[in-house]
Amino acid sequence: MDAQAWDARYGGAEPLWGVEPNRFVAAEMSAATPGRALDVACGEGRNAIWLASRGWQAVGVDFSKQGLERAAQLARRAGVADRVDFQVVDVVHETLPAGSFDAVIVAYLQLPQTPRRAALRNAAAAVAPGGTLLVVGHDSTNLADGVGGPQDIEVLFTPQDVVADLAGLTEFVVQKAQKVRRPVPDADRDAIDALVRLRRETRDGESRK
Ligand SMILES: C[S@@+](CC[C@H](N)C(=O)[O-])C[C@H]1O[C@@H](n2cnc3c(N)ncnc32)[C@H](O)[C@@H]1O
Repeated sequence: MDAQAWDARYGGAEPLWGVEPNRFVAAEMSAATPGRALDVACGEGRNAIWLASRGWQAVGVDFSKQGLERAAQLARRAGVADRVDFQVVDVVHETLPAGSFDAVIVAYLQLPQTPRRAALRNAAAAVAPGGTLLVVGHDSTNLADGVGGPQDIEVLFTPQDVVADLAGLTEFVVQKAQKVRRPVPDADRDAIDALVRLRRETRDGESRK
């Protein structure tokens, strides 16, 4: 889907994915010391706003202006507009600021392999030494065994796909690469997501908590 198609999807009365953070983003980041966070393909900003509400200085980037307008509105409503900045960026084709963020989140950016790899490597480059890269999305097995999400196998991925996309980035250590289950209201089975968490090592091997 291009930016125009996403703008059309975000034009409705209510936020598409709700205002609560994604459960895995919340679980993975709740113990982290606030610093600078980047939410890549942030949509209507639920994860960036949650991080800002926990003391992070957050930046959300997306190529949908409509999504970002809603995100800015929701940030004002949540009282965190001073701690979160939303910017129009195509994360496949435009370079993100290198080595700048203590946490970089990529949630449900479902793209075919070549642009996904480009976006993930772009996101990884934005992580500061000692920082965390968290990737969450609809797992390939969700199509047959889960519920909801895109029905096109080309844009689904496994944890192993993410690790392969980031191959050769030797300063990154994979902390978690696993399938996770997400209960869906009124569904008779869980959605299946892929979750990968990596740490960018500092020269002395230390990392932020
Ligand atoms: C399923 S939504 C997820 C939004 C958000 N991460 C969340 O979890 O609520 C996918 C988002 O990816 C964005 N996106 C897709 N391709 C993009 C690109 N090349 N550059 C920037 N954003 C992109 C879309 O505009 C959309 O907001």
